[in-house]
Amino acid sequence: MAATKWTVQQIPSQTGKTALVTGANSGIGYQAALELARHGAHVLLACRNAAKGLAALERLKREAPGAAAELVEVDMASLASIRSFATAFAGRGIPLDLLINNAGVMALPKREVTVDGFERQFGTNHLGHFALTGLLLPQLLAAPEPRVVTVASLAHRNGKIDFDNLQSERDYKPLGAYGASKLANILFAKELDRRARAAHSKLISLAVHPGISMTNIMVNGPGTKNLQAIVLRILAPIIIQPDDAGALPTLYAATSPDAKGGEYIGPDGFQEFKGSPVVVQPRANGLDEAVGKRLWTVSEELTGVVYPALG
Ligand SMILES: NC(=O)c1ccc[n+]([C@@H]2O[C@H](COP(=O)([O-])OP(=O)(O)OC[C@H]3O[C@@H](n4cnc5c(N)ncnc54)[C@H](OP(=O)(O)O)[C@@H]3O)[C@@H](O)[C@H]2O)c1
Repeated sequence: MAATKWTVQQIPSQTGKTALVTGANSGIGYQAALELARHGAHVLLACRNAAKGLAALERLKREAPGAAAELVEVDMASLASIRSFATAFAGRGIPLDLLINNAGVMALPKREVTVDGFERQFGTNHLGHFALTGLLLPQLLAAPEPRVVTVASLAHRNGKIDFDNLQSERDYKPLGAYGASKLANILFAKELDRRARAAHSKLISLAVHPGISMTNIMVNGPGTKNLQAIVLRILAPIIIQPDDAGALPTLYAATSPDAKGGEYIGPDGFQEFKGSPVVVQPRANGLDEAVGKRLWTVSEELTGVVYPALG
């Protein structure tokens, strides 16, 4: 990576590329979609709520006049919705150059389940994106240089993949389930890249984290009662960066010619809270290949989605 700080000015032209961003109606997803569109990509804003999605699309068209962007409805907490979208996208007969797995929910105070019966954070943040990526794989592999970017979090550090309690049925801790889902994002991104390399595929997969960014998830997410949330709120003015800065690791991973498959990108500042995108390292739990492989198999079983082209 170059010694100078990476900025959006360094994004190469994305003209001719199609990019899909999940959870693009707010926060990091919106900012990533905006910059990709500004640089010429045709961007699909994948949102679960049509009204919010439309408002985001209108905002994007105001902020990037002439941009090629459209709204697609996908609920990442529903395998049926993901399948239906993937089938419709395949019907267009166009390649998908960039897939940004960004949508997420954080620290829901009480255990909730998706329509498929998955714990909502694990189901949305990890299993939904595992399914979406697998179902879109033919369209990704039809692109000349496909990339998949999966948005993880510093919260992976306290995450643990407990295969005996994957759905938090035995014990639910709001931030524990979030940390596990974000650890799953890293393990997935790295295993996807290993599989792509083994298959001599041109697809690359990277994980990123945005540091700590002021978005809806931060305002609504951690609740108000637990100690971690209280500390976070006190430190907020010092450590939190705006959402456009939080989108930089995503944008670097999605567009930089220097970005390499398997990398984990995050901010370069103190404790990776904020700053410019650089290669960072997850904790040891994010580098455990055995857990990554087992999680992949379990995710195939739970979602019914397999990746035949990547073994
Ligand atoms: N902000 C941070 O400091 C921080 C730190 C580490 C990691 N992250 C990660 O960054 C990503 C983006 O979050 P953010 O900070 O930008 O917060 P955000 O503004 O709340 O964005 C989250 C997005 O995900 C969408 N979403 C949630 N559930 C969905 C579902 N079932 N189907 C489709 N979309 C869904 C939300 O849509 P609705 O508006 O409909 O809810 C929203 O567009 C998340 O993966 C989060 O874990 C954020």
